Amino acid sequence: MRQPIRFRALAVACLGVVLGGIAVAQQPPSPPAPRAAAATVDQRVSALLARMTPAEKVGQLVQAGAFPGMDPAGAIRRGAGSVLWLNDPKQFNALQKVAVEETRLKIPVLFALDVIHGYQTIFPVPLAMAASWDPSEYEQAQAVAAREARAAGLHWTFGPMLDIARDARWGRMVEGAGEDPYLGAAMAVAQVRGFQGPSLGTPGRLIATAKHFAGYGAADGGRDYDPVYLPENLLRNVYLPPFQAAAKAGVGSFMSAYMDLNEVPATANRFLLHDVLRGEWGFQGFVVSDAFGVANLITQGAAKDGPEAARRAVNAGLDVDMASNTYGQHLAAEVQAGRVSMATLDAAVRPMLAAKIRLGLFEHPYVDEAAMAGVLADPAHRARARRAAQRTLVLLRNEQQALPLRKDVASIAVIGPVADSKADTEGSWMVFGHQPAAVTVLEGIKAKVGAATTVIYASGPEIRRDIPSMFDQFTGAPRKPPQTREESDAAFAEAVAAAKGADVAIMVLGESANMSGEAASRASLDLPGRQEELLEAVTALGKPVVLVLINGRPLTIPWAAEHVPAILEAWQPGSEGGHAIADALFGDVNPGGKLPVTFPRKAAHAPLYYARVMTHQPEGTPRYSPRYWDGAEAPLFPFGYGLSYTTFAYGNLKVGAPSMAVGAKTTVSVEVTNTGRVAGDEVAQLYIRQRTGTDTRPRRELKGFSRVTLAPGESRTLTFTLGPEELRYWSTVARKVIQEPALFDVWVGGDSNASAHGEFEVTAAATGRGAARPEAK
Ligand code: BGC
Repeated sequence: MRQPIRFRALAVACLGVVLGGIAVAQQPPSPPAPRAAAATVDQRVSALLARMTPAEKVGQLVQAGAFPGMDPAGAIRRGAGSVLWLNDPKQFNALQKVAVEETRLKIPVLFALDVIHGYQTIFPVPLAMAASWDPSEYEQAQAVAAREARAAGLHWTFGPMLDIARDARWGRMVEGAGEDPYLGAAMAVAQVRGFQGPSLGTPGRLIATAKHFAGYGAADGGRDYDPVYLPENLLRNVYLPPFQAAAKAGVGSFMSAYMDLNEVPATANRFLLHDVLRGEWGFQGFVVSDAFGVANLITQGAAKDGPEAARRAVNAGLDVDMASNTYGQHLAAEVQAGRVSMATLDAAVRPMLAAKIRLGLFEHPYVDEAAMAGVLADPAHRARARRAAQRTLVLLRNEQQALPLRKDVASIAVIGPVADSKADTEGSWMVFGHQPAAVTVLEGIKAKVGAATTVIYASGPEIRRDIPSMFDQFTGAPRKPPQTREESDAAFAEAVAAAKGADVAIMVLGESANMSGEAASRASLDLPGRQEELLEAVTALGKPVVLVLINGRPLTIPWAAEHVPAILEAWQPGSEGGHAIADALFGDVNPGGKLPVTFPRKAAHAPLYYARVMTHQPEGTPRYSPRYWDGAEAPLFPFGYGLSYTTFAYGNLKVGAPSMAVGAKTTVSVEVTNTGRVAGDEVAQLYIRQRTGTDTRPRRELKGFSRVTLAPGESRTLTFTLGPEELRYWSTVARKVIQEPALFDVWVGGDSNASAHGEFEVTAAATGRGAARPEAK
């Protein structure tokens, strides 16, 4: 079994003491790294490699954890090439000094940490960022995260997480872009660019990591770490595209996943790490295991001991051993015995050295401790976080224009356990050591309304996990005993009374931060605790009620979807979340986000996603019957869904080339009009269906999108391109990627039920020998 609990506990416990005894004066500032030309980098790597002993090479592949008993300074003296889970510039400089002054070859170390949605300025969680359908917003958010983290002395982030997730029970859905490979790939590229800049070594940026390679999101039953069984077509058509896009965008590193993929641990999966990643995609960077992944090979039944685990992992293409020190203990001996070739070892070390050269670490190994505060205090970062949060908001319901609210309302009751929680507003996956400092929804509302408006707050009954999280220690929150029934009843009554005395009730409900993320799967997707009961009691008062959801995954809210007039999905919105939500509630911002994931009616409907294949009895046909007799499985809210304070109409859909050959491209244009009275954003989404094929194809697949802002009455013609990139797929029958002659439907609209329709035909490509034939059949 992996050892996260001990690892994390120790990491926290030892912060500040691991370097006992090493005193280092503040280091001189490091000017921006010059960008090294590729040829020079290769030559420098070769020259360095030629001077390294096998043990020194192995050291570069050892990533030391920073906790007592593991002693990172000692690990660096023994050659460790990188360190994870520290977050303090002073400590970074102290450790770097050990590397560049005490080791024979003076190779600097890389400092790595999970910077997932912000370092100090926290952006909305990744699932929320995907709801913006705005890759450029995401790129800029991760550029801010990189700038802050780099100023703090970090070099390498373990993000972006690119796991497609179609089962909302899986807690880590919050860390990714949702269910769709096309949206996921766009967000992957944006994040790689944001973290790394135009190329690895760009000043003020980090090395990004595409994780968890691959298939992790398809865990059996949505249970974290459980095995994954994916046939190759699903793997290649759905789960791999974001990774392939990241590789193409030049991501510096990959992280292997924890679980077995088709009964081969991803940590030692040569098909993934060697054949696909290096062989097919030409990836040049390095692959790191997930924490303790190499040692876990023994637990997972793939290796009998440490030497075999090290051998299997490195021979499969796993370069860096995160925290388990299995490489440190055994890899040199495996090389010595000839069970791992020197060529394999060199190939693993090269990209690590190249990254250090590209980052300019040999010339400027230290972080400027004095500069960090200025970077973190840059007001532009907070402004960017507010804008990002505004763009992630999804309006799920708005009957009779219940929203926006008037700012001069006399009294508002703000109710709910996450309404005034900084940690829950910032959300899942905080940087180690970070202190939550978000503007809560309560604070945002208070700041928005005038002095004449009374704002009353009541948290209602608490929510908490039935089984505590192994990450709770990081929040630093005192562990209060659970509320008694009496306390809970009193909190319930107080909340109802608050609503009774107010003109409007804003219910801020959802999940606490620790209810999603790693080891945070759920069997139910209902509002946890007594929140639904409270929502029903407050709604029964007959006052205007608005529901704001703060959560890291879809929740099953069929009652609310029928009875609560206004519902705003705000996800876990980050540092400026409260302001952004208030901006939308009171009409200063018009919500324009769209769901990156299907909202089911029941958790038991998982996995539920829009891109299902046709069946012999598809929806919409006369013989169609619901798949369960105890409640329709149709989504509560479909993928791509989201309302606005205005309305949009689609028309004039035109296909540029109604018939084209395999390999050619066509355009699809459509006119979008703002038919309402206020300006607003619409995300136009293009879906295709290949009507027949060698393999059956999904009833719809997203193949284009564009977020536009339109003034009232304004129309815009949007043009999308469809070509081989969008029309091909990996075929189970052909056992390769094919594009084939077929009839296609195309739809463009505001969600995955888009209705503006067109069609086109793809015909056989001319072979040049007079005959026309499909690429594969
Ligand atoms: C997670 C990774 C993370 C690593 C290092 C693991 O438990 O699965 O996503 O990058 O820890 O913190």
